[in-house]
Amino acid sequence: MKPILVGNWKNHPDSLARAASIASGLAKKSAQYKKLATYIAPPLPYLETVSKKIKGFGNLASQDIFFAPEGTYTGATTPDILKSFGVKLSIIGHSERRALGETNEVASDKIKCALRSGITPLLCVGEKERDAEGEHFEFIREELRLSLEGVRRKDDAGKLIIAYEPVWAIGKRSKEAMQPTDLAQMVIFIKKVLTDIFGREAAEMIPILYGGSVEGDNAKALIETGVNGFLVGHASLDPKMFGEIAAALETHA
Ligand code: 13P
Repeated sequence: MKPILVGNWKNHPDSLARAASIASGLAKKSAQYKKLATYIAPPLPYLETVSKKIKGFGNLASQDIFFAPEGTYTGATTPDILKSFGVKLSIIGHSERRALGETNEVASDKIKCALRSGITPLLCVGEKERDAEGEHFEFIREELRLSLEGVRRKDDAGKLIIAYEPVWAIGKRSKEAMQPTDLAQMVIFIKKVLTDIFGREAAEMIPILYGGSVEGDNAKALIETGVNGFLVGHASLDPKMFGEIAAALETHA
């Protein structure tokens, strides 16, 4: 499978003009992204502008999705609208949405809705902190088990992507990101949990990404841990650094 690179712009930059300029910066190095499955998730009002600039080397993603495909829900952006802009993938259950009250049950509804709408769900899981007893492994098991409730092994599992994003490692510099040895251990654990849920054959098809302070200088070591790509926050707003991350992934293409 192609390495996957997802840029989550969160609520940045603060203007459409800046968004256009970042997307143009990415386009200058478009060749770098073509060997990867690259997705950019800008703030919704920038979708159209960013879509035009990344056409040919990247796909559009959304940072969230609503749990009903269509209907009357003031303030919601339903999957049908996202699809009409060309959105191919939705981040679901990001820790910053969970911090606003989103539960595993809501994440599960959103995953099922994305699957029904033909949008790839990228489910985020990640512990807030770690302890010597390894409680964080149980936390991740529960998040996966509950968020994937109702996802069918045969028809759906192969369309899923998981992102492991430990909350404590988000929004820092590369030195404070997760250490590769710890990540390698977690990747094995997540694969085991997915195997328990879906069976080995289906679980093997599910890509696992890492997110949390991935920058140009730690991407190479992190990709050696068995992950299939990255979910990148702040570095995705910096075309030079995002290009360095893509270059590290390219060696695994
Ligand atoms: P940073 O790369 O800024 O740590 O953000 C990670 C993240 O939350 C991506 O979804």
